[in-house]
Amino acid sequence: MSNVTVIGAQWGDEGKGKIVDWLASRADAVVRFQGGHNAGHTLVIDGNVFKLSLLPSGIVSGTLSIIGNGVVLDPWALKDEVEKLESQGVEISDDNFAIADNCPLILPIHRDLDGLREAAAGSGKIGTTGRGIGPAYEDKVGRRAIRVCDLAHLDGLEPQLDRLCAHHDALRAGFDEPPVDRERLLDDLREIAPFVLRFAQPVWKRLKKVRKAGAKILFEGAQGVLLDVDHGTYPFVTSSNTVSGTAASGSGLGPNSTGFVLGIVKAYTTRVGSGPFPTELDDSDGQRLGERGHEFGTVTGRQRRCGWFDAVLVRQSCAISGVTGIALTKVDVLDGFETVKVCTGYRLRGKILDYFPSHAADQAEVEPIYEEMEGWSESTAGARSYADLPANAIKYIQRVQELIETPVALVSTSPERDDTILMKDPFVD
Ligand code: GDP
Ligand code: IMO
Ligand code: MG
Repeated sequence: MSNVTVIGAQWGDEGKGKIVDWLASRADAVVRFQGGHNAGHTLVIDGNVFKLSLLPSGIVSGTLSIIGNGVVLDPWALKDEVEKLESQGVEISDDNFAIADNCPLILPIHRDLDGLREAAAGSGKIGTTGRGIGPAYEDKVGRRAIRVCDLAHLDGLEPQLDRLCAHHDALRAGFDEPPVDRERLLDDLREIAPFVLRFAQPVWKRLKKVRKAGAKILFEGAQGVLLDVDHGTYPFVTSSNTVSGTAASGSGLGPNSTGFVLGIVKAYTTRVGSGPFPTELDDSDGQRLGERGHEFGTVTGRQRRCGWFDAVLVRQSCAISGVTGIALTKVDVLDGFETVKVCTGYRLRGKILDYFPSHAADQAEVEPIYEEMEGWSESTAGARSYADLPANAIKYIQRVQELIETPVALVSTSPERDDTILMKDPFVD
């Protein structure tokens, strides 16, 4: 039996939450290892909708759920989310939920800075979720973050606050903003500390124990490879590494623990926020994908940009992230299209490319080369076996598999947990 690492192989919102929830009942622990509450993972179970941003998607099925050290944690957002889920009947206690005590915190000053920078950037903005993710990661690598474990030592926080505020006050002055209100920040931290500390622990120890007992761990990625700070469409990316390797460093386990890498791939392409998107459609096909796929962001409610499937990008993501197999989601959204297109290469100033170039100007300029396939008029929505899929849908899935050079392990045909087709169990090597 293997552990499984779930990552998004496009620009996020591929359906990771649904697949993690589906797999969670077979796992003994689910671990978030990067990102923060910029993520929006939607689960639908018997018609009940659960929206998770920070909590691992395993929490809904009652599986031990862990927030690893690689996550940036907004304690107030956490409290809101825990309370919301509890009101939906989900049980959350220190038995089934733990937070790494070395997690850096997202503070209100990070959200301020995120907003100020985006507003100042005008049309050059990244289109962030406004959650303070980037500024919080900056403070982590800048060695001035306040971390979960500091919440137990707030009386000794002054030297750390000096470092942090010296940095932020200078930045804030540049935006004509007043200095950080230190008293208020400390008061707020004092108030929220007991809630967070209830779950805080060195989770690497807990995970070591889980591993030793031979239990299965499911690592839940957020965002997608194309938003990775190294490998994505820089600078239009998030501020963490979203690739599978982060599962190890972001949870406190070694690289030999990540197991089967399951790339979640949408049957077409979407993106929220700014940045290049070669197969983006601004015609009726794009509109139809958005409407049929309900492509509105879970976190910000923004309309997602939509386009055809880009096999070049996904092949690249799979290679970079060592994807063992993919879960192809939202196949049902393509039902009823007379023809569907797949991007198989790019044209850039007269040259043919079989990869996505690194430079932003090249990324913006590449023109997709399409292969057109016959669509299918039958419905795939809710299909639970491969044999139930129309012949042309099967042809599409097989062509995707061939082009991305990675096998399909799962197919998803609706938002519902059980509308999932298993072709290869990722937990079994
Ligand atoms: P995540 O961020 O990768 O977890 O994805 P999101 O939850 O942000 O977005 C995926 C959306 O598609 C959610 O609303 C899901 O409920 C929905 N979804 C997931 N899988 C399928 C599928 O196979 N078909 C359809 N129609 N919707 C799906
Ligand atoms: P899930 O886990 C889609 C995008 C933002 C923006 C860029 C930077 O639901 O797939 P940030 O707030 O992280 O600094 O924003 O990244 N982004 C996402 N897009 N899905 C997500 O998460 C995202 N998280 C961040 O829209 O373009
Ligand atoms: Mg999402």
